[in-house]
Amino acid sequence: MKSCELKCISLLTLAVLFFVSIQSCAPTSENKVVDDIVKQMSLEQKAQLVIGTGMYFSMPDSVRDKLPPMFGGAPKEDTPYNRMVDHIRTYLPGAAGNSAEFPELGITTQVLSDGPAGLRISPTREGDSNTYYCTAFPIGTVMASTWDTKLVETVGKAMGEEVLEYGSDVILGPALNIQRDPLCGRNFEYYSEDPLVAGKMAAAMVRGIQSNGVGTSIKHFVANNQETNRMSVNTIVSQRALREIYLRGFEIAVKESQPWTVMSSYNLLNGTYASESHDLLTNILRDDWGFKGYVMTDWGGGSDPVAQMLAGNDMVQPGSQQQIQAIIDGVNSGKMTEDQLNLNVKRILNIMTETPRYKGFVPSNKPDLEGHAEVTRQAAADGMVLLENNGVLPINQSVKNVAAFGNTSYDFISGGTGSGDVNEAYTISLIQGLENAGYSIDKGLQETYETYMKNTRAKANRPDNFLAAMMGGKIPVAEMDLDPAIAAKMAKTSDIALITIGRNAGEGGDREAKPGDFYLNQAEKDLIKNVSEAFHKEGKKAVVILNVSGVIETASWSSTPDAILCAWQPGQEGGNSVVDILTGKVNPSGKLAVSFPFTYDDTPTAKNFPGHAVESDGPADDTPDQSGFSFMQRVPWEVTYQEDIYVGYRYYNTFNVPVAYEFGYGKSYTTFEYSNLTLSSNEFSDKITVSIDVINSGNVAGREVVQVYASAPNGKMEKPEEELVAFGKTGLLQPGASETLTFTIDASLLASFDESSSSWIAEAGSYTLSVGASSTDIKAQDIFSISSDIKVGTVSNSLAPRKKIDTLHQ
Ligand code: BGC
Repeated sequence: MKSCELKCISLLTLAVLFFVSIQSCAPTSENKVVDDIVKQMSLEQKAQLVIGTGMYFSMPDSVRDKLPPMFGGAPKEDTPYNRMVDHIRTYLPGAAGNSAEFPELGITTQVLSDGPAGLRISPTREGDSNTYYCTAFPIGTVMASTWDTKLVETVGKAMGEEVLEYGSDVILGPALNIQRDPLCGRNFEYYSEDPLVAGKMAAAMVRGIQSNGVGTSIKHFVANNQETNRMSVNTIVSQRALREIYLRGFEIAVKESQPWTVMSSYNLLNGTYASESHDLLTNILRDDWGFKGYVMTDWGGGSDPVAQMLAGNDMVQPGSQQQIQAIIDGVNSGKMTEDQLNLNVKRILNIMTETPRYKGFVPSNKPDLEGHAEVTRQAAADGMVLLENNGVLPINQSVKNVAAFGNTSYDFISGGTGSGDVNEAYTISLIQGLENAGYSIDKGLQETYETYMKNTRAKANRPDNFLAAMMGGKIPVAEMDLDPAIAAKMAKTSDIALITIGRNAGEGGDREAKPGDFYLNQAEKDLIKNVSEAFHKEGKKAVVILNVSGVIETASWSSTPDAILCAWQPGQEGGNSVVDILTGKVNPSGKLAVSFPFTYDDTPTAKNFPGHAVESDGPADDTPDQSGFSFMQRVPWEVTYQEDIYVGYRYYNTFNVPVAYEFGYGKSYTTFEYSNLTLSSNEFSDKITVSIDVINSGNVAGREVVQVYASAPNGKMEKPEEELVAFGKTGLLQPGASETLTFTIDASLLASFDESSSSWIAEAGSYTLSVGASSTDIKAQDIFSISSDIKVGTVSNSLAPRKKIDTLHQ
């Protein structure tokens, strides 16, 4: 669409708004406006509002023609509704969905576009030579590894400006499911294995994004911790694990940042679709936590739109004609009252009155992409985790020539695949980052790799289907078998070796505990070994860079190179951010927000991931797959969370299972000393204040992530060895400088969920408070006691499992 057309539409919208705002001068303006609109709406319009307007992807007609109606493929009748749908789709090409627009009633569409690592829209538009690129920010796992909520808020602010200036109303993120198992294909979008980290990061991101006057949709609510049969998996989990692990991050985000919307997840939860669960969406989300916005389904989630409305899932996305009819029939048959539907409609309209589109904002289509490139560059560097460093980093100033090994050095991965992929203008590769910083890279080696990748891709079958179109169609290339003679030659001519190991993953599939995925394959093992040995022979060093979407096995090879930097998938400025760390321009300060186990079998979830097929016994089986795509199929399936509350470090540290790198771990180029741990009291009443001094005892400036863990007594409820209760990050401390960090621990942070009374209780007894540089590198400890049980709050008795779970115990 041309910009003048956009402006004309906006003027029209403004005129309507002017009319609406004249009508809405009454003191109770927002509600009165919404109440008045609802009174004027027909049943059909209400049904059309709660059901999305279908999904539309910009793609070749040959692909689109094969798509089912849900994706905008089938021909449609020329009706006013369909004309409206066609029209609103032009507002923001590439958006994931819209709500309906009724200008005659003052109802503007809400444009919903993916996230969470940046705004996902089409970079180009038919008949328009302008480009509409968005910033690919670092993935969620990087953001969490910064442990810096202020920085995350800054990233959110930048991301939200793109949402606003490109004319979207709500971004579908952040995503904060728990990284329950290292193989979940979407872990990259998620923050952590720990709910406090996930919740605090999500809250910061929501605050940042929403400070622009646009909305967020925190997702996927809840216990959607795998991609295998995600549409139909029944997640069986105890109420305690739900409350303490899986719901907790969402609770923090809702209470601390008031996201405009929540996206319910695809899976069933103890036998009921999340999107049809009144326990989840009304009892917990609204009654227990006070959520005020609206809930939308994940795209194609659930099976019964009426059940969804009744549960408190107010909008169904992407929506179909059949679903609109189901709502109308639901009211006409008495399955659902019109008052119920009005409630769902009002929640959507309440948010609508907050949107930029409703307020008449005219998007510039010119967000500050240059400024945001700086933001992403810094954020990514701050989230990289230095795993090993035997005195090689930062790179010595005498180093000038670099030999870059590994396909991924040349084909750097900025983020994962699927709806979380951003259409960015560029990705800075490792070699570009090196060249930008003035290093020479070996051109012969570059050519070898680039030719290999080009030839391999040319030979591969290019998948010409919807999924490929959605995933960006990039064909992954297996690591090249490097001739050891090349390594030997490079060791003579180059000053240092950098070896990048790449992994990608994304929506629609989980990873595998196999070579080439969780484990290194033979070519990668040989690469690290041969290059390291060749360079060591010449008295030179080799550094491994992990450009990965999630955890991989490291223990079997980590002592071979001289350093390992976990760069994750760091967004579009990735190569520059890595080089900022390698050169010491930025001192690494990231720490792991997820544990790195020795082997996959060491993980507490290995026995129960991704679950197993079951006899069909629920609504999932009757629901036809609307998409025609394998990853959207509904296979009767269940997964039981037997590990219960023992997720990640809660398991490793309680059951003494050694890991390769523990939760909270990360190295710096400097050292820190901790002193002066002070507790406000050793007798806990309603809260306790903890302070600690951190001094930079090394030679270069740096920042330290400080973690506070509590070990509770094993009383009525058994407790993990320790749980994170607070964290903070120092400012940039010059050598010799110190900072005092202060944390407040209230009873809610110490409480466990007692299923028998449906309440949170901090049990009486002696507690140990440990302040550490990681979950096991504890620097100072003190104890305090709680004299009698403190009941922190009673909540609804919701989501009880229908099957007995044989949960893990100490
Ligand atoms: C994903 C969501 C996404 C939605 C819209 C779904 O397949 O699970 O995370 O927001 O699509 O693209």
